[in-house]
Amino acid sequence: MEILLEQTEWQGIKLREVAGADRREIPGGTFYDNFYKTLRDQKGLENLDAGWLRQKRSVSRWIETRFLEPMKQRIGDDFKILSLGVGLGIVEVPWLENGYRVDLQECQKSSLEAVAQRFPNATIYIGNAMEIPCPSAAYDLIVMNALDYVFDRKAYETLLHEAARLLRSGGILLGITVSNLDLKTLVSTLLSKTKQKLLGKSLRRVNESIKWGWSRTLGEHLRAGRRAKLNAETVFATTPPDSELVPLKIPSLLWRFYWPNARTVAIHWNKQ
Ligand SMILES: C[S@@+](CC[C@H](N)C(=O)[O-])C[C@H]1O[C@@H](n2cnc3c(N)ncnc32)[C@H](O)[C@@H]1O
Repeated sequence: MEILLEQTEWQGIKLREVAGADRREIPGGTFYDNFYKTLRDQKGLENLDAGWLRQKRSVSRWIETRFLEPMKQRIGDDFKILSLGVGLGIVEVPWLENGYRVDLQECQKSSLEAVAQRFPNATIYIGNAMEIPCPSAAYDLIVMNALDYVFDRKAYETLLHEAARLLRSGGILLGITVSNLDLKTLVSTLLSKTKQKLLGKSLRRVNESIKWGWSRTLGEHLRAGRRAKLNAETVFATTPPDSELVPLKIPSLLWRFYWPNARTVAIHWNKQ
């Protein structure tokens, strides 16, 4: 199952005020380009929310210790990583600093100006993550952190097919979602939508929000992965909500019906 998410602000920027914001459309490249310019000009990239930065750095470190370091030991220095929808590159910069071979991808380039200056040899693909101009089987590890929500069901399946195409046989796709649909979120979203309908569209919050993307259940992610012929090896979740990502022990037949009570869920898929 998946449901539409609405959002009013991000990093203190009112989303309706960003040039190119359209209440009826899920944001695309033009919106994100203007968003990052607004963030830089209004707030300053040195004033990003401290809790948000901490969470990004902790995910970066978790991926490095759980995936990058073991892969380095197994394959050597030569393995290649692609990270999709990297935003400001906060998760990926420590890996570049530590000498990993990381290619970056984003739908706009404003957010990556500083990273491009600092790492002039880094490969940066600008465009749609569903269609990357790169030969097949080029990567050992593909990371998508907080990107899945942008895509509806059909587009998400296309995205996973593209990631599968770009992976070498035996390669890993790591999808980390920060908008996992758990029961609590589903009930509160349905209640708030019903309230909005009953009270009419003049409610301030309704007018201030934009369509932001999709929140989906773990079962929905796994279904999309199966369609792209990706094998879900391990699912991790933050249970309790503020903890580190830990592996979930769920009998494989029940994964489809299991709704982890966590906003952040990570799926380690293997390409055979
Ligand atoms: C929530 S941000 C996550 C950024 C980064 N991965 C992180 O964890 O900080 C989602 C990012 O996806 C990018 N994006 C949106 N649509 C995209 C698309 N079709 N292809 C590639 N990137 C996209 C946005 O520009 C934005 O930077």
